[in-house]
Amino acid sequence: MSVDPQSRDLAEDIARGAELLRAGRLVAFPTETVYGLGADASNPAALERIFAVKGRPRSHPLIVHLGNAQWLDEWAIDVPPSARALAARFWPGPLTLILKRAPHVPDAVTGGQDTIGLRVPSHPIAHALLDAFGRGIAAPSANRFGRVSPTTADHVRADLGHDVDLVIDGGPCAVGIESTIVDLSRGAPVVLRPGAIAADAVRDVARGDVGTSSGPAPRVPGALAAHYAPRTPLELVASGDLDGAVESRARRGALAVLAFERPHALSAHVELAPRDPAAYAQMLYATLRRLDALGVTAILVEAPPDEPAWAAVNDRLRRAAHR
Ligand code: TXA
Ligand code: MG
Repeated sequence: MSVDPQSRDLAEDIARGAELLRAGRLVAFPTETVYGLGADASNPAALERIFAVKGRPRSHPLIVHLGNAQWLDEWAIDVPPSARALAARFWPGPLTLILKRAPHVPDAVTGGQDTIGLRVPSHPIAHALLDAFGRGIAAPSANRFGRVSPTTADHVRADLGHDVDLVIDGGPCAVGIESTIVDLSRGAPVVLRPGAIAADAVRDVARGDVGTSSGPAPRVPGALAAHYAPRTPLELVASGDLDGAVESRARRGALAVLAFERPHALSAHVELAPRDPAAYAQMLYATLRRLDALGVTAILVEAPPDEPAWAAVNDRLRRAAHR
């Protein structure tokens, strides 16, 4: 399908989406990372619907999506130069900045904290929707709380069904995993959630030390260990152990395997994984959903290399394996 926001059907969806947002309704829309469940970020009743539909604890803050970097000062105060530099370099794109909130920001957005997460998405449909609406859109991933994020409109419909007023279909998301989150509200930048924009790239632009999340951190549902998890138990297995693991687990019941090379033991449903981390991220959630739907007793995943380029994928796989 076309993702040209000028096409007639999409233009209609975008106009209707903006109207629904103005009326306090929920609109699911594609971003380059994953699909978002959008609501008017200035409307506490609309925000309440997000938490109700997702089944998400009220204390977990939402990311506000902006049309461009000029909107930033409407939502954040005390914006440090490092945040401006990161916004100039990576927006629009898969980067969320945590900054001090402006006084008018509803508590429902921030979970009552004094910070706010902001991002300018690059997806043309997200962009067109933000332009048409003209204000910030709060949007968590459009899945039920704790489940794998949706990367197609069908995933959204399968998860949320009639609880969402409109799903705008933009085809599969190009990045496939959630944005990199960088906290700039407490001095030196800290990566709270790895994503397609690597910690190294953040460090180069922010020109300073960039920590990774440790010690007391703000409440972040993405930081819960058991997040992004399929229902089927998922086990991460080192490459060298894969054949043995497949053989022994297959004795206990039907098995699905996601691996870089076909294991020798043939008693499993096998999917081959791309060796490029960006391509892997792009297919990861759709693949987990597909394997989850097979009704197997376990999903074995060959662990990707323990290298910085794989940090975001490894983060999501570790969470998916946790229970
Ligand atoms: O790529 C993404 O970021 C997607 C798309 C839709 O933009 N959104 C997304 O939203 O992943 P969600 O709600 O599933 O995850 C947002 C994460 C949560 O872990 C939340 O706790 C964190 O961002 N977050 C939001 N505001 C925050 C804040 N003020 N301080 C710390 N963490 C915050
Ligand atoms: Mg989420």
